[in-house]
Amino acid sequence: MEGHFQYAMLREIHEQPDAIRRTLALYTTSGAYGLELNPEYFEPLAQWGNMHGEVLITASGSSRHSGLAAEIILEDQCGLAVDVEYASEYSCRGNNSKDLRNPSVIVLSQSGETSDTLAALREARRRGQKTLAITNVEESTMAREADLSMPLAAGREKAIPATKSFTCQLTVLALLALYEGVSLNRIDPAALSAHLSELDSIPDALATQLAGWETQMAALAAKYRNATTFLYLGRGVHYAIAREGALKLKEASYIHAEGYPTGELKHGPNALVSEHVPLVVIATVDYAVDGSVLRYEKTLQLLRDMKAQGAKVIALANSGDKDVAELVSDCVFIVPASEYLLPISEVVPLQLFSYFMALEHGVNVDHPRNLAKAVVEHGA
Ligand code: G6P
Repeated sequence: MEGHFQYAMLREIHEQPDAIRRTLALYTTSGAYGLELNPEYFEPLAQWGNMHGEVLITASGSSRHSGLAAEIILEDQCGLAVDVEYASEYSCRGNNSKDLRNPSVIVLSQSGETSDTLAALREARRRGQKTLAITNVEESTMAREADLSMPLAAGREKAIPATKSFTCQLTVLALLALYEGVSLNRIDPAALSAHLSELDSIPDALATQLAGWETQMAALAAKYRNATTFLYLGRGVHYAIAREGALKLKEASYIHAEGYPTGELKHGPNALVSEHVPLVVIATVDYAVDGSVLRYEKTLQLLRDMKAQGAKVIALANSGDKDVAELVSDCVFIVPASEYLLPISEVVPLQLFSYFMALEHGVNVDHPRNLAKAVVEHGA
């Protein structure tokens, strides 16, 4: 037992509001006009970005998925050119890569010790690139070896499936994007202040939704326990959450799942959809952002098509969205938020779904078979 929780994973899911609060407290200060970015962490970043605005993010597992979200945010909000590489791939390229770019490199890692990501960091340093490590362990090897370190304040994460470290990574990456947006004159002071106060409201919003999600996801896990594969779909920044939801389900419950960009369903994976292969579709929307509305409308059309096809669909949608709810088998509501902050909320019910699916299948969710919290063997 973990306190009054049966497993550390469930405790850590519930710790997310506090973990995000602690992380925000590190990186923000109260100024005359509300919250501001804490110069202690952000001023050193002034010399970090390269003049061509190229960024390379490299990571493994869940940490890579927060990198996929950051890719969209840094590109859309700041206009940077961002690549995300699997650390295990990037670190193997060696001298074969004649790279004309000279990106600033971000390594993302809960542990700060994953062999492949550490090797990627060392490779970036060998190439003379400026490096930033975002890790949950301030004294970790990556935090020490990178030029700059932005620690998370998630607190120790024991369960093998990452939960609170993931949402804290999304939080720090959102702050980094705000800093870059301000530096590049893409975000003005009033918008920064509005973004920071919205970020600040997220922990309370999560705390009020957790109990309802927990009850609903336990019921959905029981309902869908015999599914053989789940296809998770999301567009834009939400694709990262589809990937993370699918990984979480695989590692926690041993049920096969894949994450795809929503529009790719019809280019192959739809052949798999059946009574035993449901879809999990992220169909939230931020009406203030054109691209988000476009994505939402395309997603609604896909949901209509899937209804006609007889597919079973679990959707994540804005609270009270009847248009989505009427088209799907089950609808999980999320309190509306802005486009780039929605992922922090969306992933939490998906974490709970994986947790309860693990219980349905009798898996010790804190220690799934064949997995380690940090893969540190060379060449693993
Ligand atoms: C292992 C864990 C994953 C984790 C990945 C990266 O594979 O089982 O849950 O996402 O390592 O770990 P890191 O500590 O680098 O974030």
